Amino acid sequence: MKILVTGSQGRLGKVIVSALNNKYDIFSGTRKNADITNQTQLEQLFNREQFDTVIHCAALTDVNYCEHNQEETYNINVRGTENIARLCAIHGTRLIHMSSNYVFSGEASSPYTEEDKTGGSPNFYGKSKELAEEKVLEFCPDSVMLRISWLYGKEENDFVSWVINKARNGESIKVINDQLANPTNMHDIANQLPLFLDNKELSGIFHLINEGATNRYEMAKFILKCIHSDVPLIGVSSKNVEKLAIRPDYSVLLNKRLNDLGLNKMPDWENSLSNFIACHYNKISTTQSKRKI
Ligand SMILES: NC(=O)c1ccc[n+]([C@@H]2O[C@H](COP(=O)([O-])OP(=O)(O)OC[C@H]3O[C@@H](n4cnc5c(N)ncnc54)[C@H](OP(=O)(O)O)[C@@H]3O)[C@@H](O)[C@H]2O)c1
Repeated sequence: MKILVTGSQGRLGKVIVSALNNKYDIFSGTRKNADITNQTQLEQLFNREQFDTVIHCAALTDVNYCEHNQEETYNINVRGTENIARLCAIHGTRLIHMSSNYVFSGEASSPYTEEDKTGGSPNFYGKSKELAEEKVLEFCPDSVMLRISWLYGKEENDFVSWVINKARNGESIKVINDQLANPTNMHDIANQLPLFLDNKELSGIFHLINEGATNRYEMAKFILKCIHSDVPLIGVSSKNVEKLAIRPDYSVLLNKRLNDLGLNKMPDWENSLSNFIACHYNKISTTQSKRKI
């Protein structure tokens, strides 16, 4: 199976490529060789490579940046996704689209399922992901749409590495304590992808998150416990933090469709996070001698 992974140099794209490379014929799409806003380049690529499937990870994902650069965000997240979806429709290529928990308003008080109505996101990134979903459904109604949330897992540039780096430097950590979502290990997402790749009868929206929900404060507390750090942790309300883009208070998802189909293999967030830290950060605690990290 020949697969184009768009945004393959991004956090999730990298993990997906390394997890699938052995079993599938992967084409790593980058801004250079597969700019999703460049229709001519994309058409030539699709004509040349005849992909069976596209895993569409490319997007602008910095929520604050998106808020202040809405035209660019629309161009990449919405028009770029439309370009990919249109070409998938023309070429009969299956599309697996990465979407977000931020497509919801965040005003619910129980976890969102695949049947819940999207819309009302408090930030432009979420709005753009919602509009992208509409484009995918318009052009590729048989696609797979995976809504994911609060990703970590590349040892760089995410919340887990941020907390660990702060702890290593002995700095106190201030984090928001009143916004709930599902921390999700990117490796768990990548490991679940063959299910969708190999079973073409699966289509439509699926929530794909580690089981259980928490806030950033509790997540940071858990991380510090895993690495035996006692740096001060301070919880703050999002209402008291000056923010460029508003995050939803409640963007918790439920893996309802996977559960209903008996296909849910996603571990709970605490198990997955403690295993991830044990595998990837062990070397830090042992090389930092007796000093607590
Ligand atoms: N991270 C999360 O917590 C999270 C949560 C929910 C959903 N998601 C979704 O999951 C997907 C992957 O997220 P991620 O965290 O891996 O994001 P990321 O690290 O920001 O990676 C996105 C990738 O897209 C590339 N890209 C941007 N514009 C492009 C263009 N015009 N053409 C081709 N590639 C382009 C970026 O390239 P450059 O590096 O050159 O800019 C980057 O490599 C996204 O669709 C995101 O919306 C992420």
